[in-house]
Amino acid sequence: MSINTPPSGQNDFESSVNLQSFLLFLLAVLVGLLVAVIVLPIWMPNMAFSLSGNAPKAYWYLSRATAFASLSLLWLSMALGLGITNKMARLWPGAPATFAIHEYVSLLGLAFAVFHAVVILGDHYIKFTPLQLLMPFSTVDYRPLWVGIGQIGFYIWAIVALSFYIRPAIGQKTWRFLHYASFIMYLMGIFHGLFSGTDSGANWAQKYYWFSAGSLIFLLVVRIVGAVIDKLFPARKPAPVQRTIQDEKKVINNKGQVTP
Ligand code: HEM
Repeated sequence: MSINTPPSGQNDFESSVNLQSFLLFLLAVLVGLLVAVIVLPIWMPNMAFSLSGNAPKAYWYLSRATAFASLSLLWLSMALGLGITNKMARLWPGAPATFAIHEYVSLLGLAFAVFHAVVILGDHYIKFTPLQLLMPFSTVDYRPLWVGIGQIGFYIWAIVALSFYIRPAIGQKTWRFLHYASFIMYLMGIFHGLFSGTDSGANWAQKYYWFSAGSLIFLLVVRIVGAVIDKLFPARKPAPVQRTIQDEKKVINNKGQVTP
C-alpha cells in the first residue's frame, strides 16, 4: 500500500491510498484468517488443536489484541481528522500529511477490525457462525446487543472509509455528511468494547477508554470554540485590487518603465 501525500497548500485532498491495493490487502487478511479458522482444523487437526483445543485460547487472545489495535487506530484517525478541522495540524505535520495519515490509519484500523471479528470464529467458547458474524444482534449466546452495536459500527466504518473513493461522484456535501457518522461509529466502538469485552473491568482498560474518549472530546471542544471565534471575528481579507481602464492601458516598455 503506498501513500501519495497530496501537494502542500492543496485544500481538496485526493485519496492517498490506492483502492485496489487496499481491497487486495483486505482479501489477503480475510483469506488468511478463513484458512486459519476453517481449513486448518480439517487439514492439520493436531496443529489446530494446539491453537484452539480445550484449554488454549489463541484465537480469543488474538481477537482481543486486535480489538484494541483497531480501536486505537480509529482513535488516531479521529484525532487527526479533528486536528485538520480545528487547524492544530497546521502546526505539525501540516494539513496535507495529516490528511494522508488520517485516511491511511482509518483503513488500517478497518483491516484490524476485520481480523478482530473473523478470528473469533476459531474460538470454541464464543462459537459464532459466519452468518452470526455478518448479521447484527444475532449472537444470541453472547451479548447480542453490545456485539450488534460493534457490528453496526463496523459497517458504518466501512461506508465512511470507502466514501473517500467516491467523493467526486457523491459530492463534497454528501461526503462531509457521511464523514460526520464517524463520531457515532467511534461511540459505538467504545460502548461495544466496554460492554462486550473481557478486559473492561481491568484498571488499564478503564484508563484506556477514559483517555481515548477524553482526548477526543478535548479536540472536539477546541474545534467548536475555534469555529465560534471564526464566526464572531472573521479574519479580514485583503481588499480586491481595483483595476482602472488607465491601468489596463499602461504598458511596460523595453526599458522596464511603465508608460501611460
Ligand atoms: C463485525 C463486527 C464485530 C464483531 C462481531 C465483534 C465481536 C466482539 C466480541 C465477541 C467481543 C468480546 C470478546 C471478549 O473480550 O471476550 C468484542 C470485544 C471488543 N471489540 Fe469487537 N466486534 C466487532 C467490531 C468491532 C469494532 C469495529 C471495534 C473497534 C472499533 C471493536 C472493538 C472491540 C473492543 C475494544 C473489544 C474489547 C476487547 C476486550 O475487552 O478484550 N469491535 N468484539
